[in-house]
Formats: sequence, C-alpha cells, structure tokens
Amino acid sequence: MAAHANEQAAVAMPDSYSADAAAAVLQSGGNAVDAAVTAGFVLAVTLPEAGNIGGGGFMLIRHKGKADFVDYREKAPLQAHKDMYLDEQGNVITEKPLYGILASGVPGSVMGMWEAHQKYGSKPWQELLEPAIRLAEQGFLPHEKLVRSTQGYIKRVRQNRHGRNFDQYFDGMQADKPFKQPELAATLKRIAAQGPKDFYQGQTAKLLVEFMRQRGGLINMEDMAKYRAVWRQPISADWQGYQVLSAPPPSSGGLVLVQMLKMQAELANQFNGLEHNSAQYIHLLAELAKLGFADRAEYMGDPDFYQVPVTPLLADAYIEQRAKQVNPTAISNTDEVKPGLKESEDTTHYSVVDKWGNAVSTTTTINLSFGSGVVVDGAGFILNNEMDDFSAKPGVPNFFGAVGKEANEIAPQKRMLSSMTPTILLKGDKVEMVTGSPGGTTIISSVFQSILNRVLFDMNAQEVVDAPRIHHQLLPKDVIRHHSGLSEGAKKRLEDMGYSLNNQRFGDLQVISRNPLGGLEAASETSGRGKSLVF
Ligand code: GLY
Repeated sequence: MAAHANEQAAVAMPDSYSADAAAAVLQSGGNAVDAAVTAGFVLAVTLPEAGNIGGGGFMLIRHKGKADFVDYREKAPLQAHKDMYLDEQGNVITEKPLYGILASGVPGSVMGMWEAHQKYGSKPWQELLEPAIRLAEQGFLPHEKLVRSTQGYIKRVRQNRHGRNFDQYFDGMQADKPFKQPELAATLKRIAAQGPKDFYQGQTAKLLVEFMRQRGGLINMEDMAKYRAVWRQPISADWQGYQVLSAPPPSSGGLVLVQMLKMQAELANQFNGLEHNSAQYIHLLAELAKLGFADRAEYMGDPDFYQVPVTPLLADAYIEQRAKQVNPTAISNTDEVKPGLKESEDTTHYSVVDKWGNAVSTTTTINLSFGSGVVVDGAGFILNNEMDDFSAKPGVPNFFGAVGKEANEIAPQKRMLSSMTPTILLKGDKVEMVTGSPGGTTIISSVFQSILNRVLFDMNAQEVVDAPRIHHQLLPKDVIRHHSGLSEGAKKRLEDMGYSLNNQRFGDLQVISRNPLGGLEAASETSGRGKSLVF
C-alpha cells in the first residue's frame, strides 16, 4: 500500500539526545529507518543503562505498506554449554550469567542496524552515525537521573565487583559537565567507516576477543565472524478491528501479547463496563497473564533451535479454550495453570513514524541496567548480560523470575528467549499506534496495557503511558506488581482475593498514537527521561 506523503512525523524516545537526533534525520528528509538507526547509535552513547552496541534487539518495520522484522538478538558463544552456570551440585550460580565476563552473548546490534539500513535506509550510513560520534567525542550533559543511577551502580560494583570494570569508565560522570567517551567515539568512527566488517572481523572484534581471552571469556573471532541478523515474519493478528504486528520468536513478547489480546476479546463481556484499574479489571489481566506465561515457559525459545508452535498457540479454538480457564471471581490455582497445548531490569524502546506513514518500533537491550557491568578495554562499549535470559536449569527462575525448559536451554549459537515486544497497530493501511517498553518480562504487560488503554479506554498518548500498570507472570505465585496510583479500594479488594501486592515501578513506554482527528500524538512516561516530538 502506498505510503501517505506529507503526514506528520513523530518520535518517542527514551532520552532527549536520541529524540533530537532522530527528529533532525526526519526533518532533513530521512525515513523512519534512518531515524531509528541514528537513535540506536546515539542511545549507545547517552543511555548506557540499555542503549548499546554491545547487546541486541528487535526492530519491527512498516515500510511502504509492508511489515518486516529484523532479529539482532545476541547468540550464545560457540563454547557455551547447557550446564555452564551450574556448580558441582548442579545448582545455578545466580551471579554468573548476570555479571562479569561470562554473562555476555555475541552482540547483534551493529549487524541489526546495518541490515535495517541496507534494506530500507535512504541516507548514507556514515551520516546517520555522526550524531553519536559527536556526542561520544565532544561529550553530552548527563541527565541527573542518569548520574544518580550510574553512581548507585558504581557503589554496588565496588561492594561486590563480580568481574566488573564499569567504574573505570563511568566514575566522575556529573550532571553539569560534558561526559566524553573517547574509546567509544573511536569505535563508532570505525563502524561508520567500515560498517559491521569492523565490529565483527576488524579492529573492534579483535579488541573484544583479546579482552575476552585475557579475562577467561568465551567469545572468540569465529563467534564474531559467524554472527548474522535474521529477517523474520512479524507476528500478525486481527484484534478489535486492528491489525496487530509484533515480535516473533525468539521473543515471547508478540506471542504472549497476542494471546492476551485475543483472550481479552473472547472475554469481552466480562471486560465491558469495567473501570480502568478496578480490582476486577486487574484480576482479569492477571488471569490472562498467568495463562500466557505458562505457555511462555514451556514452548518458547529460539525458533532456529526449537520448533515453537506459533500457529497452534494463536489458533482461535485454542484461545477460546484457554480463555475458558479464566476464573472471573477468584485467583486460579497457580499449580494448576499448565501450558495448554498438547497435548535493571532495563532495556530500552523507541518509536518512530515518518511523514510517509512508515513506522519503526525498536526495542534494544543489554539486559539489566548497564548489562554485565563490563566495558571492553580499548573499545569503550558495555557488554550485555543476556545469557541470563536463557533457562540455566529447568524450573529455576532467572533474574526476572521467569522459568523455562528445553525450549530455552543454553546451546552454542542459540538466541536466548526475550520478552521484547516492539509492536505496531494498523487500522486499514494506516499506522494507529507504535508502542514498546523496557522491563524484562514486564514488557509484555506494559505493551498489552498500553494497547488496552488506547483502544478500550480511549486514552490519549500521554495518558496511555502514564496510567498506572500492573504485572503478573504466573510465578511468583499470586503476586501482582504495580505502579503507584492504584486506588486503595482496588488494592484492598485484590488483597482480600488473595493477591500479594508489590509496589515497584517498571517500564518506560514510548508511544506514538493517532488521535480521533487523525493527527499523531507522541508520549514518553513522565517518570522517565524520555522526550517525544510531533512535527
Ligand atoms: N533482556 C530482556 C529481554 O530480552 O526480554
């Protein structure tokens, strides 16, 4: 379908540097993918908690009416093995996949940006990297929230180092002083000049591999040279008159999101007339999540290694049968909720719409805030701790409390299961909403509720992102995590039903949506440091 020229454009970004740089690309004639590539590299400089070149991500693209998806998730190194995080008694050594040199998968972000640009970009690659290089070389003024989180992390590193050298690079960051990253600037210059050849086979690969060798890490030159991003078919489903496009495996995000949306439609009578964030509404969301997360634990992993039953998991008859298991009046017994077939916390998201109506929804991650806490000496970028997204042992929860089995066990070259859920909603041929969030397993809940807020409750973009959200994921049993702002009455009723409530904020939605007059709105959560623009 032809794109619509001369429409408004919009960006919703997790910080002001990425928002301004992406907007400048769009204003100078670049398309949504160009803007996303620039934002991706800028965030590697200005959002060290999650922006990266040492991690991976997913980019959902709608270009000239066609949907596409590039998977640049990290991969387990060739020398990785199933039991690599177990001690002699077979117990998981919890900090090993989280911190230090053994926590990282082979990074995919540079290849992902390159692939997206090769296929859809319109401006020169070098030009798109210029803002990131400038910010790394000349410095940027860190937001006070970034300074606080960096100082907090450095304190924890110094209390218990776990092989992290983060403080050597990030100590001394101040809110009123340009923060320069000369090694990162040099790395970005090489990537600008040589593309992925530098990162995967050239000087940057050599720096990374030598660093690994000196510290007992696993990633070698063969791992780097073998890394490929993969173009995949996005998950696509009809829901309430919209076409929902989202992330396929190796993300669980699109599958669980669409399962929950379809179960919601199946139970529309029970949702009708419910007040937003009333106890009954929250209970129903928790019941849907329980079912979705039970399937996640059993069936979802890297589709190149494990046959993920995508079609059966989304089949109407299956959804109908699963929706019947929702108990409208009481908490379903967690032990009885089984998979149904048969048989810093961090990460970041950004959304772009260009004046031709193309859209990009990108979620990218180094897993927890500041990843493994390890910065590659000489190359200046932070490595991910994505290995914790594998299931280190069947049934043993990872950092996010997620459990898994064979589908998500560690194997060389395998991608770890993700919850990243970059999503686009279409109405007819028009982009109605671009949404996504960080937050590990809570991502799926944030994206699900952003869609319900927009479609069922007619909220504008700012209301969509700021309305308090809840998260439930089967385990821990009957625990609902929530933002501040739920009514006392709803909380009391949920506790009376038997839920334990955990008031702990999550997510940082970056949303673009179309208002009833057909114009675009863009919003970043007020509690974060995001910036959104419509122009
Ligand atoms: N590391 C968070 C995710 O991929 O789900």
